[in-house]
Amino acid sequence: MSDSQRKILVTSALPYANGSPHMGHLVEYIQTDIWVRFQKLRGHDCIYVCASDSHGTPIMLKARELGITPEELTEGFSKEFVSDFADFGIEFDNYHTTHSPENEEIVGRMYQALRERGDIYTRTIEQSYDEKEGMFLPDRFVKGTCPRCKSEDQYGDACEVCGATYAPEDLIDPKSVLSGTTPIKRESEHYFFKLSEYEERLRNWMTVAKLDKNVVAKLDEWFDAGLQDWDISRDAPYFGFRIPGTEDKYFYVWLDAPVGYMASFKHLCDRTAGLEFDDYWKADSDTELYHFIGKDIMYFHTLFWPAVLEGSGFRTPTSVYAHGFLTVDGQKMSKSRGTFIKARTYLDNLNPEVLRYYYAAKLGPTIEDIDLNLEDFIARVNSDLVGKLVNIASRCAGFIGKRFEGRLADTLADGALFAEIADASEVIAQHYEKREFSKAMRLIMALADKANRYIDEHKPWIMAKDEDRLPEVQLVCTQGINMFRSLMVYLSPVIPGVASGARAFLNESKWQWQDASSPLLGETLSKFKPLLTRVEADQVARVVEQSKESKPVTDTEQQDDYISIDDFAKVDLRIARIEKAESVEGADKLLALTLDVGDNQRQVFAGIKAAYDPATLVGRHVIVVANLAPRKMRFGVSEGMVLAAGPGGEDIFLLSPDEGAKPGMRVK
Ligand code: 2FM
Ligand code: ZN
Repeated sequence: MSDSQRKILVTSALPYANGSPHMGHLVEYIQTDIWVRFQKLRGHDCIYVCASDSHGTPIMLKARELGITPEELTEGFSKEFVSDFADFGIEFDNYHTTHSPENEEIVGRMYQALRERGDIYTRTIEQSYDEKEGMFLPDRFVKGTCPRCKSEDQYGDACEVCGATYAPEDLIDPKSVLSGTTPIKRESEHYFFKLSEYEERLRNWMTVAKLDKNVVAKLDEWFDAGLQDWDISRDAPYFGFRIPGTEDKYFYVWLDAPVGYMASFKHLCDRTAGLEFDDYWKADSDTELYHFIGKDIMYFHTLFWPAVLEGSGFRTPTSVYAHGFLTVDGQKMSKSRGTFIKARTYLDNLNPEVLRYYYAAKLGPTIEDIDLNLEDFIARVNSDLVGKLVNIASRCAGFIGKRFEGRLADTLADGALFAEIADASEVIAQHYEKREFSKAMRLIMALADKANRYIDEHKPWIMAKDEDRLPEVQLVCTQGINMFRSLMVYLSPVIPGVASGARAFLNESKWQWQDASSPLLGETLSKFKPLLTRVEADQVARVVEQSKESKPVTDTEQQDDYISIDDFAKVDLRIARIEKAESVEGADKLLALTLDVGDNQRQVFAGIKAAYDPATLVGRHVIVVANLAPRKMRFGVSEGMVLAAGPGGEDIFLLSPDEGAKPGMRVK
């Protein structure tokens, strides 16, 4: 090992426990888990904790809407997180919740310490208040018209159309999202943390914390703009911890959320002999602490969090590792396209190992977004994992099993080639250490190519036909299996399930990183079982299909994939009777229909010729969009649209309630 044993504590951002885990979440948990598994494989003492982020207004309101308590709501989603993450091979040493006694105790202690040093003060502020609901409204719970570009239906903090940022009261015609009433302004006393006094200490921290240059650039921007004191309180009703010494003030969710990292660790310490909370959190701790987060929550983790830790007498993070967002097929995940994929939908259809590999092949240490391109995903995992990696073993295992009773040769046929793979150990390790996973994957796959080339050149399947050359077959296959084994050791943080199958085949119970550098010789292997099967396009298609069906969840950002009930109400759907149906000269697919829509007759062109003989249509009823703006077509003007179902061609079905239907009847 290159360095002595380190003590490392690692966290991923705590997921809000009001929605199911999805492919976007998985980027972070897979990235963190790979890094943690790598550290453990290197022999370091590495602990990975997480928890559900269980407080705040959205959780309180969602529970209210469902008629359950916030505790019930968050416990339900926490269970989902735990089981979905476990099925993706994400191995937390502890998963807790921010709504825990440990968290309440620690956040209370920190607050007290900050007060004692004079870092907390109160100030009366004015805020939007919903009189009907009897509560103050967070910015996102007020909507109205953007004061700059006049776009309607914008949130109270920023306009999604022109990017302007403002306060909710700046909106034109602001409305409460909860009750639809116009919010009033109301005063209330809030508690503030003096972030402005931490600039110098934060600048110092930033230089030692080896942050990515994009993160540093962001921090510089924030320093240039000047640090504002932080409002850490919220008024009742609120789901969170009451501020000690107050009746109706609560800690803002973002104050106790990162404290949840400490609380989860404390919860683990309380159940683990020899694990001491203070060793990891005291101000002069020599352990390492890393937070993996998404780029959207950098402000909280690189300014508020280190400042709060420092001010309350704890250590600060060794570093904060931010990653970018996930796009699917180059676009934001979308429910209508079926690319807002829940973890469970993926698991129902596909092997989690291959997603771990694909993400690893894409991930680097920067905040650049990563794209899950579904076609590339299929091609990449089939080519790299099945075609290159597993292939090495499957080409050699049969010969060793059948011809040599599973026994490997006592020497390596090509020591130099094996040494090449062993010598890559430190470079690969450095890539992992620096979260350059894509570089590590590329290097490992280049070595897999070499291993396959070796087998191609030696052709054990030809040698095996000649009894005299059997010893050579054993040597070549022993070489092949050893190259496979070393590459599997390198890949085991990424594909732990496949690695465990490989260890079962090799009769090894555990690996350490340095095992990749020493060959396995003279040992007897178990029967080889296929370690991985190809990903088929229809499996991925099923995932997409099933994701289209999944119900809308809370994430308001995803709402743009839907039309509102008001949009829908604009559509004038009516029953029409087909008075006349004729082919259209020069158009293979169209029929010209004359429709009686009750108060008038009109002409509509419909692409249903392959499915219906015009003669059979006269007298039938159809549903028509009666208020579609007339469209000028090559053959005339079409004044509406006939609704039908089916994939097209001959399979088009006009939905017409013939019985009792009368032209002009409204359909909703
Ligand atoms: O942005 C989020 O999803 C938050 N729930 C992350 C919290 S991370 C930590 F501070 F708890
Ligand atoms: Zn705007």
